[in-house]
Amino acid sequence: MNGKTAPSTRRVAVVTGATGGIGQALVRHMIARDYSVILLSRQTGRDMPGVTAITCDLTDTGSIHQAASTIMKDAPRIDVLVHCAGVISPQNVGQLDSTTIARQIAVDLTAPVELTNYLLPAMGRGGHIVFVNSMAAIFPLAGSSVYTAAKFGLRGFARALEQELRPRRIQVSSIYPASVNTPMLSREMESGGSIYNFIDPPQDPDITAKRIMQCCERSSREVFSSVFDKAFTHACLFSMKLLNLSLPTMRFLGRRGYRAYRRRQPPQDMG
Ligand SMILES: NC(=O)c1ccc[n+]([C@@H]2O[C@H](COP(=O)([O-])OP(=O)(O)OC[C@H]3O[C@@H](n4cnc5c(N)ncnc54)[C@H](OP(=O)(O)O)[C@@H]3O)[C@@H](O)[C@H]2O)c1
Repeated sequence: MNGKTAPSTRRVAVVTGATGGIGQALVRHMIARDYSVILLSRQTGRDMPGVTAITCDLTDTGSIHQAASTIMKDAPRIDVLVHCAGVISPQNVGQLDSTTIARQIAVDLTAPVELTNYLLPAMGRGGHIVFVNSMAAIFPLAGSSVYTAAKFGLRGFARALEQELRPRRIQVSSIYPASVNTPMLSREMESGGSIYNFIDPPQDPDITAKRIMQCCERSSREVFSSVFDKAFTHACLFSMKLLNLSLPTMRFLGRRGYRAYRRRQPPQDMG
């Protein structure tokens, strides 16, 4: 760990995925609110004022354990833990490869479980654990079944954890963004991602980051982009018939939205 021990008066936040589209926006908000941020990343040299970077590969349990023990040594009290790292690799079942399955399950599900387990002793009353989940946790995505499975699992873990930690007054929240305009969305679409990402225009990462920030400072909750998103996706989860009836309209809206999104993208540098 390259930084110094955080002053005890500042709230300490541990954040995964802090180098990504949503994570970078979140860290900016945290610094503006005078948090001391510890980020976990595979990339080295990500230190900046108010931020301490720890190298960690979330697909590697040994690396997670090592990062967690470094954090516990240097920052014995953690106020906020945000699980924001994530990967999606669209592939149809029957063509899945084992490496891709393992990476998605590891980063999207196992790592948040492992990291929470290791860091929980450093959290106390008033602490908050936030899971950056996805609409895929409620609305199944054909072509991204492994991501869907991991995010469904993550929701289950978060809900059970909330029950477990309620007596200790540690808050547990999840946020379920629809699509967000980040490198993840671009990569997903380059490899055949879901057209449903474009039913509504992708959100600015700053909006998602503000919602995560609000979660960190309130009581346990599940946050959706809109009341409609929450109600409709849960209705589709309840009724497979409603889901299948809705899909043609959703595909139409998604294709239209994707065309508009591509028109808005800056031209690629051909040099
Ligand atoms: N973008 C969307 O449309 C969207 C929609 C709904 C939900 N979400 C969720 O939002 C979260 C953030 O997504 P994003 O769009 O900001 O993604 P992003 O820009 O692609 O960033 C991904 C982040 O995950 C980290 N990461 C990936 N694999 C890792 C590994 N093996 N070890 C350590 N860190 C790893 C990356 O860190 P390093 O490269 O520095 O290691 C990076 O900071 C994810 O959980 C995603 O599922 C995104």
